[in-house]
Amino acid sequence: MTDVHFNKEKGSQLKLFTPGPVYVPERVLKEIAKPNDTHRSKAYSEMHQMAAEGLQKLLYTKNECLIFTSSATGIMEACVRNLVEEDEKGLFFSIGAFGDRWYEIGVSNGKTSIKEGVEWGKAITSEFSQEALSKDKYSVVFIQANETSTGVYNPIEELAPIIKDSGALLCVDATSSMAGVKLEVDKLGIDIALASVQKCFALPPGLAVCSVSTAAFEKAENVKNRGLYFDLITMKKSHVAKYQTPTTPPIPQIRGLTAQLDFILNEEGLEKRFERHERLAKQTRKWVHENDLEMFPEKNYESNTVSTIKNSLNLDIPKMVSMLLDKGYRIVNGYGQLANKTFRIGHMGEIQIKDIDKMLKVLADIIKELK
Ligand SMILES: Cc1ncc(COP(=O)(O)O)c(C=O)c1O
Repeated sequence: MTDVHFNKEKGSQLKLFTPGPVYVPERVLKEIAKPNDTHRSKAYSEMHQMAAEGLQKLLYTKNECLIFTSSATGIMEACVRNLVEEDEKGLFFSIGAFGDRWYEIGVSNGKTSIKEGVEWGKAITSEFSQEALSKDKYSVVFIQANETSTGVYNPIEELAPIIKDSGALLCVDATSSMAGVKLEVDKLGIDIALASVQKCFALPPGLAVCSVSTAAFEKAENVKNRGLYFDLITMKKSHVAKYQTPTTPPIPQIRGLTAQLDFILNEEGLEKRFERHERLAKQTRKWVHENDLEMFPEKNYESNTVSTIKNSLNLDIPKMVSMLLDKGYRIVNGYGQLANKTFRIGHMGEIQIKDIDKMLKVLADIIKELK
């Protein structure tokens, strides 16, 4: 199978239809290339404040929004370390690879971690969550909004009130849906909503963001061994007092985030952005059926940002991906245990309908050739 070499002069010329990292528009790359003052300067604080306030609008929340120098996994670990006390239990709902990862983070940090999962391709239902929550007393519940391995979107609007009723804090991993799918943090009572920026934000990797409720900060105050780099209380102090971070952040990336939030909120508009992602997903699902393929997720729970497609035609997926690469497009194989049984098309960030139509047409021809 061929792959594409490092292009020292021009950078990658591929059109990415991946579930992250995704295509980054030229205007964002230019923004990131601008010079900056230091992270202890007034100019930085002003920029950081703009990003934080933009995130609050994006997430429909008054909660503080923090910026982490890490990918999303760093915040997933921060949630576990800051919110689960030694004598408490964390409940991890898992519907795929990233739910399993959060549970493993709980275990590897020595926290009492309980996993409640469903068959891959399915979502957590209200009944399932009620049943799981009734088994024990959990102090924190961890769940994905969008599970990127299976392409399933959990019914988070139905689940959040049930979880909150149990008295637990609620952490939502919205890594592959934040800035692509509406998430109303305050309405749903989400204590921490997190994501990295190399997905629906259409930024290069290197940053992660989250909203943190007052209840979550209050809880963290009393949790021992929160660690140093991802201590929510230390981060809150710098953030609230100065709109800064305790250690040196990737300042150019934050410049990019500020610009992209401005674009999302003031140029494209939130509703239009969410609607575009919905249309991209519908268009992809239509193509799936027209090409005698099937969606992997159960009906009504399909993601608007990544389509996981069953390999119902028994195609040679690595070959298909490689043939598409020769045409200048990248899609990806299934994740982990779903490799070769599924393949995934990312339609998140700045991808437009005409872009996906063009790529899907090329992919349809490749599939015909492979059949
Ligand atoms: C749902 C979900 N959670 C967590 C992660 C981990 O994100 P990161 O690679 O930014 O740590 C990913 C990455 O694809 C993801 O899709």
